[in-house]
Amino acid sequence: MKNLIKISIVFVAALFCFSQCSNIPKSARITKNFGEGWKFTPGDINDAQNVTFDDSGWRQLNLPHDWSIEGKFNKDNPATPGGGALPGGIGWYRKAFSLSESNKDKLVFIDFDGIYCNSEVWINGHYLGLRPYGYISFRYELTPYLNYGEKTNVIAVKVDNSKQPNSRWYSGSGIYRNVWLVITNKTHIDHWGTYITTPEVTAQAAKVRIKTTIKNQQENEQPVTLQTMVYDATGKKVATSSTEVNISKGSVTEVEQEMKVTDPVLWSDESPYLYKAVSYVKRDGKICDNYETTFGIRYFTFDKDKGFFLNDKYVKIKGVCNHHDLGCLGSAVNTRAIERQLQILKKMGCNGIRTSHNPPAPELLDLCDKMGFIVMDEAFDMWENQKTKYDYHLFFDQWYKRDLEDMVLRDRNHPSVIMWSIGNEIREQWDPKGDSLAKQLSGIIKKLDTTRLVTSACNRPGPENFIIQSGALDIIGQNYGIQYWMKFPEVFPGKKFIASETTSAIATRGHYDMPSDTIRRWPSRELIAKIMKLMKENDEVDFAELFAQNKGLMNADFTCSAYDNCSVPWGSTHEETWKIVKKYDFISGMFIWTGFDYLGEPTPYPWPARSSYFGIIDLTGFPKDAYYMYQSEWTNTDVLHIFPHWNWEKGDTVDVWAYTNCGEAELFLNDKSLGTKTKQGDELHLIWRIPFVPGTLKAIGRTDGKEIMTTEVKTAGPPAKIILEADRSRIHADGKDLSFVTVTIVDKDGTMVPDADNLVRFKIDGNVTIAGVDNGSQISHEPFKADYRKTFNGKCLVVLQPSKKSGQATITTTSEGLDGATVTIEMK
Ligand code: GAL
Repeated sequence: MKNLIKISIVFVAALFCFSQCSNIPKSARITKNFGEGWKFTPGDINDAQNVTFDDSGWRQLNLPHDWSIEGKFNKDNPATPGGGALPGGIGWYRKAFSLSESNKDKLVFIDFDGIYCNSEVWINGHYLGLRPYGYISFRYELTPYLNYGEKTNVIAVKVDNSKQPNSRWYSGSGIYRNVWLVITNKTHIDHWGTYITTPEVTAQAAKVRIKTTIKNQQENEQPVTLQTMVYDATGKKVATSSTEVNISKGSVTEVEQEMKVTDPVLWSDESPYLYKAVSYVKRDGKICDNYETTFGIRYFTFDKDKGFFLNDKYVKIKGVCNHHDLGCLGSAVNTRAIERQLQILKKMGCNGIRTSHNPPAPELLDLCDKMGFIVMDEAFDMWENQKTKYDYHLFFDQWYKRDLEDMVLRDRNHPSVIMWSIGNEIREQWDPKGDSLAKQLSGIIKKLDTTRLVTSACNRPGPENFIIQSGALDIIGQNYGIQYWMKFPEVFPGKKFIASETTSAIATRGHYDMPSDTIRRWPSRELIAKIMKLMKENDEVDFAELFAQNKGLMNADFTCSAYDNCSVPWGSTHEETWKIVKKYDFISGMFIWTGFDYLGEPTPYPWPARSSYFGIIDLTGFPKDAYYMYQSEWTNTDVLHIFPHWNWEKGDTVDVWAYTNCGEAELFLNDKSLGTKTKQGDELHLIWRIPFVPGTLKAIGRTDGKEIMTTEVKTAGPPAKIILEADRSRIHADGKDLSFVTVTIVDKDGTMVPDADNLVRFKIDGNVTIAGVDNGSQISHEPFKADYRKTFNGKCLVVLQPSKKSGQATITTTSEGLDGATVTIEMK
């Protein structure tokens, strides 16, 4: 039983020892990635938890694994197109492993970062437990049931994602996050056993407070010394503290230490400096446990009038919401794939991530710490009132406390996390229960962390909102309702404000509907009414036909315009939104829906659409044009992006847009000037409306008359060849790294063919496999795991994964009638 004793602090003055890390003693605990060598089978299998069960016919694989992404699209899959239209079901995993006799007097734990969903776990036939929530990390202790020496152990996991829809987007299915085996001594630092805060920070010094939870599973009291060392990013020891404490048998004891770090280097989105605390538990001079915690030193405030300040510096939160899928890799966590997403966002100038609408993979937060993103860490998409039939509302009452505590305990050392969201668009905003539930959820968080703000992403804007009324929110999050934002200071005097979700502009990469200055709000009410009527009267509705008959209300080819002239009716275009967020300081920032397209929620279209149109970046990672609007506003990089492509019919009138931060740009068509345009007032783009003539469109960007840069778009001829470009041609031979290879179809002169949809085949030679293929089309039903892909609007992507062998691999692409291409990847 947990007996939490808060002991008095034996504070040993901080030492400022600048020795190198090399004298860190070797590890007393083992933390091992436990993802290799699992067996998997789909289906509900009787007795698969038993040790003697014969799994020899099961498939061998490594975790993380998502079985849904391997499946076929079908509108009748229970996930529905809203959930990505891929299969769910039940699956079983088993792993046999042995432990040497030397571990006999140790404790052994298994840590799951996340299993989607309803997982049940057995060790050697003993039931360890159930976790319904697919986004939560959890631990089981294995010690009492283990065999040592020659006799092996079997861990069995049942995953049940059969009852769907249980999510409003693609969830994936299986042990889709990492798994760890942790071996410690009986006296050890508990799971998520440190909590580091920096209560006082000045330019000269930072007070670092570390609470460490030590667990004693011995039969007797343990007099131990807790020694904590803080290292800076160069590995220099910058503070230490040592505390003697008696941990009584069977207890969990929290030890508080305070240290001083002089001349602290602060963490920020622009300069994400990290420190590391290394904790040792020693008994009679011998190390019985060691533990590492990465943290940052930073402070922040939200001001009701002036917005957000990080380390006293005004910062607008320029964030995006993202779901957890990684495009063609599904939800199977891959650190490089997450890092690539963040790199693409960082290059755009984005500095914030909202983990919509669930606790993320731990790797995402580690990367946000390292790369400088401000995070809104969100717990739930619903409470007691459902959004889909089988969603978490079924488990909320029984599990919310445990799940929320686990989220905060896991994530509260990340400097990137500055806000906890207790929920997204929670139905209890309209239900008096919202008041008490909001207070309870906020109370759970405040017991574990008072250094961050509690919010909720609301979509009931007025003071009648029961969650806002509860007073439990430190900062009010408002989703959409841009027309209400300006009234906020008046409606909620004294309250802080963040635009927790905005925009929901919709676009297909490379597709343009003119006139570009007419804004489409899709799906229109008019069309929805027609659809409802038709669906009532007919078993099947031919949507393509319907949309063809209703030009301007939807496109028959299920596309949306990339001119930033299309948004959902509850949202706004990128420009409409950013103009307001930019203008008002009290709006501390925003999280745009969404950074990347994701599987599921293909609003505004029905099937055959199966993935979202909301991303600034498509599902493959190729930017849509709006990306450059943000880049021109949010970075100091010189930007001059002109679009659309230059393949139109003779006589067409075409709107040419430029996103630029040059101030002015002059456009030339076949070397003839079409005039210089200067950005006026709050304008975010320049526009020329011109008759189409094939050739070369060139823009010259100038600042104060000085030429800064030139961009060209050319009319492409017929497809002639393939160009391959690897984002990294040297990767780690670790079985996990990835190389993302972009395939572009070009004409004989190397100009991308903007509507090319050629089928490209991939042939691999060497120790890499294809982890996924995609082209960013929201309606493609080709499989993501394949050695071929059609290009979409000129491009597709193939993702390569190395084995653990060093060497070289080549990928050769062929396509009928085109010159092929080869790229070589080196693995080290
Ligand atoms: C919001 C919701 C998001 C997503 C978005 C699409 O209301 O919070 O999860 O559905 O709409 O516009």
